[in-house]
Amino acid sequence: MEQATKVVTKGEWSKDGNLYEVETGRRDGRVSSAKEAVKNLPDSFDGIRKLIKRFASKNLSLKDLAVLSGAHAIGKSHCPSIAKRLRNFTAHHDSDPTLDTAYADRLRRRCRSPRDRTTELEMVPGSSETFDAAYYGLVAKRRGLFHSDEALLRNDVTRGLVLRYRDSEETFLRDFGASMVNMGRVAVLTGSQGEIRKTCAFVN
Ligand code: HEM
Repeated sequence: MEQATKVVTKGEWSKDGNLYEVETGRRDGRVSSAKEAVKNLPDSFDGIRKLIKRFASKNLSLKDLAVLSGAHAIGKSHCPSIAKRLRNFTAHHDSDPTLDTAYADRLRRRCRSPRDRTTELEMVPGSSETFDAAYYGLVAKRRGLFHSDEALLRNDVTRGLVLRYRDSEETFLRDFGASMVNMGRVAVLTGSQGEIRKTCAFVN
C-alpha cells in the first residue's frame, strides 16, 4: 500500500510526526560561554513585564512568549527553581499567592530544602514526556511550576493564548513550530562574522 507523505512546511508542526522544519545555515559565535548565556536567559521568578521585555529585546512577540513557554510540557525541574515560591516569596516566610494552594502543599512535601538539587519535579505531573497542550491546562488552573509560567495569566494577550492553546492542541502545535523558527532567528551573525556550526551546540 502506498504510504501517505505529509509535507511539512516551515514552522508547521506535524501532529503525526511531531516535526517542524527549521532554517539552516545560521551563523553563530566562535565562543560558547555558559556565563554569557545565563545573562540572557529569563528567570523562573520573572514576572510578565520582565518576560515581555526580555523576549522583545530578542525580537520575540507576546505570542512567541506564550507558545514557547509551552515547551514546559516536557521535562523536569529541581527545587531551587521554585523554592522561593514555596516558602520565601517576599522574604516573609510566605508562599507565592498566585500558586494554587493544594499544589503548593504538594510541592512543599517534595521539596523539603531549597538546596535540594536531586529531587526531580515533572513540569507536567504524569505527562512530562509527552509534548502536548496539557501545560496550558495546568497554567490556567494556577498550577504552572514556575512563577514565569503563571505570569502568562497576567497579560490579556498571553492569557488569551493560554486559554486558546488549552482548548486547541492543534493550534498550539502549529504555532509552536512557527515560534521555534522565530527563536532560531535570534541574534544571527552575518557576513564573515562567526561560523555555521557543524553541530549546533558546539563551536567547530
Ligand atoms: C519563558 C521563560 C522561561 C523560563 C523562565 C524558563 C525557565 C526554566 C527553568 C527554571 C527550568 C528548570 C531548570 C531546573 O530546575 O533544572 C526550565 C526547564 C526547561 N525549559 Fe524553560 N524557561 C523558559 C522558556 C523556555 C523556552 C522558550 C523553552 C524552549 C522552547 C524552554 C524549554 C525548557 C525545557 C525543555 C525544560 C526541561 C529541561 C529538562 O528536563 O532537563 N523553556 N526552564
